[in-house]
Amino acid sequence: MSLTVEEAGRALADPSAYADDARLHAALALLRREAPVHWVEPDGYHPFWAITRHADVLEIERNHQIFLNAPRPQLLPSAVEDEIERQAEQGLGLRTLIHMDDPDHRVIRAVGADWFRPRAMRDLEPRIKELARRYVDRMAILGDTCDFVRQVSVHYPLYVILSLLGLPESDFERLLKLTQELFGGDDKDMRRGETPEEKFEVLMEFLGYFQELTAARRANPTDDLASAIANAKVDGKPLNDFDAASYYVIIATAGHDTTSATISGGLHALIEHPGQLARLHDDPALMPLAVEEMIRWVTPVKEFMRTANQDYKLGQVTIREGESVLLSYPSANRDEEVFDDPFRFDVGRDPNRHLAFGSGTHYCLGAALARIEIRVFFEELLPRLESIELAGTPENTATTFVGGLKRLPIRYSLR
Ligand code: HEM
Repeated sequence: MSLTVEEAGRALADPSAYADDARLHAALALLRREAPVHWVEPDGYHPFWAITRHADVLEIERNHQIFLNAPRPQLLPSAVEDEIERQAEQGLGLRTLIHMDDPDHRVIRAVGADWFRPRAMRDLEPRIKELARRYVDRMAILGDTCDFVRQVSVHYPLYVILSLLGLPESDFERLLKLTQELFGGDDKDMRRGETPEEKFEVLMEFLGYFQELTAARRANPTDDLASAIANAKVDGKPLNDFDAASYYVIIATAGHDTTSATISGGLHALIEHPGQLARLHDDPALMPLAVEEMIRWVTPVKEFMRTANQDYKLGQVTIREGESVLLSYPSANRDEEVFDDPFRFDVGRDPNRHLAFGSGTHYCLGAALARIEIRVFFEELLPRLESIELAGTPENTATTFVGGLKRLPIRYSLR
């Protein structure tokens, strides 16, 4: 079935396209080849320029004084965007790092930046290892089959991030459900309600939970990340409740669906490429490269957006002031100009200049943590793995934002 450029562009705003890898990548390859900066006017979404080449995504991210995150940092249905705008006018709604630009962004990012430095993350490795072992043990307890996504991979990164924040374990399941409702918003299996008001209700529930946490940590500071946020001073003043709650939300949400999707997608790739699994098993020193390749392969964040504050010429096209661009990370990470044989899964790929964590001032704050979590999990799993195969058909989440597998039925034997 041949695809037109117009249809390919619209696929970027169609959640179901992301549930079908072959359809998505056919559309992205066509855009990269024929219309790398392409104007899309999809049904139900405000229009945008689709940016599909690696070099163009980088150029836009580097020009962060011109291409701003506000007011449209991600693709949402126009009804939801309009509702958010209405709420923002009343001083409500989220204002996280991804909604900000300099100078606010620099100041607010610094609050968490110390916590997430690679060196600080390495000190946390023993704790993360303990949690990874807990989940590999859980696989052993489950017997010889499981749905790896639902029973293992969605829980482990959530446990890591919520324990770093210092939240009680009894709240973890509730936060997992809320995050999935917030991030898996397009998928019928995940969403809570149909209307923008119902989606907004999920957001408000989130904010309410974290506002209480801020108050508790101000009253009784501890050494966890929640205390660092609650008691941070910006220009000598504490963050207001709203900015503090928004900080928790970005960390609690950005920190687990992304990593969980990479771990399940990475395992799926190893099952589908048994030669690569054997290679990694025989040469564990390849693990850091294998982790990068899993991140490139899965690219769990499908897009972020920017809006131009002045006219800008990108290649042959002039992007006008006020127009938005959609940065397609899955496309940049399969760009034939940058990656040798991009559709080959290669655990030894080097160099691997993927853009799955973005680039520039908004570069993923949790990248060092995510890398450790993924590496440590496979370092625990692989030495114990005697065999593994699919036990059913894997399924992807239908979402235009963050996602990957929602089901990965596997059969395995562990020693
Ligand atoms: C931002 C990807 C894991 C926290 C981002 C961005 C991407 C991304 C693409 C936007 C970058 C840009 O606009 O240039 C990923 C991937 C992950 C992952 C692929 C896992 C494999 C995490 C984790 C955390 C985290 C574990 C925290 C615990 C954040 C935060 C931001 C962010 C706070 C906003 C940074 C800012 O706007 O300054 N991430 N992420 N992420 N990520 Fe991650």
